[in-house]
Amino acid sequence: MNASPRAIPGPLDVGRLRQDFPILDQQVNGAPLAYLDNAASTQRPLAVLDAMDHYYRHDHANVHRGVHTLSHRATDRYEHARELVRGFLNAASIREVIFTRGTTEAINLVAYTLGQRLKAGDEIVVSELEHHSNIVPWQMLCERTGAVLRVGPITDRGEIDVEAMLALITPATRLVGVAHVSNALGTVNPVAEIIAAARRHGALTLVDGAQAAAHVPVDVRALGCDFYALSGHKLHGPTGIGVLYGRESVLETLPPFQGGGDMIATVSFRGTTYNELPYRFEAGTPAIAEAIGLGAAIEYLGRVGLPAIAAHEEALVDHALARLRDLPGIRFLGNPRQRVGLVSFNIDGIHPHDVGTVLDQRGVAVRAGHHCAMPVMERFGVPGSVRASFALYNTRDEVDRLVEALQLAVRMFAP
Ligand code: ALA
Repeated sequence: MNASPRAIPGPLDVGRLRQDFPILDQQVNGAPLAYLDNAASTQRPLAVLDAMDHYYRHDHANVHRGVHTLSHRATDRYEHARELVRGFLNAASIREVIFTRGTTEAINLVAYTLGQRLKAGDEIVVSELEHHSNIVPWQMLCERTGAVLRVGPITDRGEIDVEAMLALITPATRLVGVAHVSNALGTVNPVAEIIAAARRHGALTLVDGAQAAAHVPVDVRALGCDFYALSGHKLHGPTGIGVLYGRESVLETLPPFQGGGDMIATVSFRGTTYNELPYRFEAGTPAIAEAIGLGAAIEYLGRVGLPAIAAHEEALVDHALARLRDLPGIRFLGNPRQRVGLVSFNIDGIHPHDVGTVLDQRGVAVRAGHHCAMPVMERFGVPGSVRASFALYNTRDEVDRLVEALQLAVRMFAP
């Protein structure tokens, strides 16, 4: 197995890190790929590909079921991945780490199970900058129960108006849901402050960590949240795997989510009893290889070092902002004081999809559109934006190529 990279002190050796990501070494439309769509999905290092390949070549069997050697091995590797996630989030116990298909399923799990005890008049509070996955499950829950969804506004900077949001949290609030980092703006939200306010009112708290986990260290115990959701593919792991962290004392009070194998203790037609945490929330054969891949991604990030990654991405954002400011007709979405590595903008008179297409012709991959955050677009009065989002393997040269391709788009679409 190729277990690269080794511990890297100080600033990132990006040239060396890029060798861990074979997908980056290709031409797209005749130009070297500059992959700047990491907020949509990151790329995987060899360490992840190798871990999954090794698992399928040598260890695959079903987990928690077999008495034979391969099943024991698969179970050990799957549960080791859970322990790696526990350490990554600083959860108190593996009982608090539930594997899901991703952030979306994690939030739906909470909305569905919590929904069984909500009633008309209860309230859920979210912010205006949430991804659809932290809006729609709550809207569906409100439709089912008669609960009310309250929305904390954001400012022109693209930051949560904390005072206004906290004013919405009352004794009627059952849950406050907030993104750790905005996928559309890059804003790092003051989640600890919001969580503390929610707890004072006895409300549960859920943090959507999809955009945070590959960029900022997460400590669920320091945050004090009841739930924290993340997706493997946003942190250099596989698709189809994610995590719901849940505070054990809260998870114990929730009914099961999906019914089926592995989530039960006993089944008879007289009635069924359920398994202990976390298995009670993992019905059916899980995504075993994907969980192992996620564990490998977490180990990889640990070796590279999240603080070094954060510093590298911050430098890329600063460079991008400095160069993009001079672009004719550019309008940034928001200007958050705390942000992770992404910039979101429009160019006057050019539709974001046209910008994205011109960039693709130059090998530069960005996301153009509403980024599954239509309320953010509505707040800024735009149909969508162009979003360049950075990861540990991106370079200043790629930022410069983004700027040059944008200059070309401006010239092509100039009236
Ligand atoms: N949530 C992903 C994004 O922000 C898909 O692009």
